[in-house]
Amino acid sequence: MALLKIITYPEKSLSQPSAKVETIDEEIRELIQDMGETMFHESGVGLAAPQVGVNKRILVYNPTAADPEDDGTKREIAALINPEIIEASGSYLSEDEGCLSVLDFRADVKRYETVRVRAQDMDGKELEFEVRGLPAVIMQHEIDHLDGILFIDRISALKRAMYRKRIFKQMKEAQAS
Ligand code: NI
Repeated sequence: MALLKIITYPEKSLSQPSAKVETIDEEIRELIQDMGETMFHESGVGLAAPQVGVNKRILVYNPTAADPEDDGTKREIAALINPEIIEASGSYLSEDEGCLSVLDFRADVKRYETVRVRAQDMDGKELEFEVRGLPAVIMQHEIDHLDGILFIDRISALKRAMYRKRIFKQMKEAQAS
């Protein structure tokens, strides 16, 4: 197992749609293990393959993230391959949403309250399940990554422009020093 490097905005590959996984082989399973380890190491609740530089439709998440009993020591990884949202309803304000690929920024994001997800598990078995609240936000956020969408694409253009300006200024300063 290995920790993977997380790619951050404005890296272009983050805004590119990812390809469907055709064969779940050893390489994919190893990637999933590494993604899970990386996610827990960074204290994230979800991580999508494009965030580690692999544009394939894979995500991992912490299935106990919304559990008040979860103290972060369980480190149980759940993985979804080729996940898609097949039904969505209700509205939910995801407060202070953040992303390991969007540094030093959080914002409220309007999400669906309930989503129904279809995917394959690590053995290629078809899954279908419904989640609401925080787990539904995680699904929407991570599946967005597979379509090249970041949460900052779902906030106001003004807020996004301000963040973009700040990041480019920081990059320029880093280059100059
Ligand atoms: Ni993210």
